[in-house]
Amino acid sequence: MKFNLRLTAVAAIAAACGVAMAQETVVKIGHVAPLSGAQAHYGKDNENGVRMAIEDLNAQGVTIGGKKVKFEIQAEDDAADPKQGTAAAQKLCDAKVAGVVGHLNSGTTIPASKVYNDCGIPHVTGAATNPALTKPGYKTTYRIIANDNALGAALALYAADKLKLKKVAIIDDRTAYGQGVAEVFKKTAVSKGMTVVDEQFTNDKATDFMAILTAIKAKNPDAVFYGGMDPQAGPMLRQMEQLGMDKVKYFGGDGICTSEIIKLAAGAKTLGNVICAEGGASLAKMPGGTAWKAKYDKKYPNQFQVYSPYTYDATFVLVDAMKRAGSWDPKVYTKELAKTNYKGVTANIAFEPNGEMKNAATTLYTYASGKKEPM
Ligand code: ALA
Repeated sequence: MKFNLRLTAVAAIAAACGVAMAQETVVKIGHVAPLSGAQAHYGKDNENGVRMAIEDLNAQGVTIGGKKVKFEIQAEDDAADPKQGTAAAQKLCDAKVAGVVGHLNSGTTIPASKVYNDCGIPHVTGAATNPALTKPGYKTTYRIIANDNALGAALALYAADKLKLKKVAIIDDRTAYGQGVAEVFKKTAVSKGMTVVDEQFTNDKATDFMAILTAIKAKNPDAVFYGGMDPQAGPMLRQMEQLGMDKVKYFGGDGICTSEIIKLAAGAKTLGNVICAEGGASLAKMPGGTAWKAKYDKKYPNQFQVYSPYTYDATFVLVDAMKRAGSWDPKVYTKELAKTNYKGVTANIAFEPNGEMKNAATTLYTYASGKKEPM
């Protein structure tokens, strides 16, 4: 009898758990970034941000429209390649994810944004900075950092007004990001009376810049601006040192503003000449930055680059809109994204009508001490 009672109790608990588990609906959040190739370190960092957000959300326990939900990530690799970017976006549309965090590169995010708009799934990027992303005015596209109009201009103003530099050479990698940020820098620099003494181009696979740097050296610039990412910027700094260009300042946008560039520059003294800009506050000045970073480092040692706090917040922004709408159906909750007023780790997040972040901060950094530090 006693034995039977126990069994009944166990069965009752098991049945209750079974019911609870059956009632928990899985909601998928897509993430896309380069996870292969020379930019995989940025992509891993971004994905870590989304994974951490999903763990925290599931630990909190989220109820949407009266239903208990469990979030899962569907992580895709676009290898920083525009074609793979649209293919990954289509895959997430077909999988009917509730929303997407990404992509990382402007070159993949801009074409992918059309795919998401066509299938009606919203995406929030915490990394792509080309202003053209929000030009079409898609109701499915959001960005939670400042764009390159802010970054390129802030760098040029610093070069002209603070450092009083006169001559700059510009290099870009011909990607949507590199070309775009270099154009903004150039426009502002010229408007402040600086002279562009040379313009050179490379690509996002190159590692040998001796020819273009030699041409630039002959023009004797005070600074080089590089529009591109760290797999190029790191070796470029080393080669500038080899060519004796160790007095030349080196400007770049958020793409070079990583932890990895320290490794990629491999001890070159020219790392100390780097001044880069990022579209947000420094970790110390973010509302929850310091505590968040300590937690991240514990979970993902030595993987922090730039954008993971933003991909973390982007995940919460999507879920916040789902909660307010009482639905994870993109057709129902997307309109709530536009009304976002969310206190995140990185900032208080609200959007302009075109999906750009309201009042986004910009921060300049140097590596003068050998470490990345806000100025
Ligand atoms: N901000 C860089 C881009 O837009 C990562 O591609």
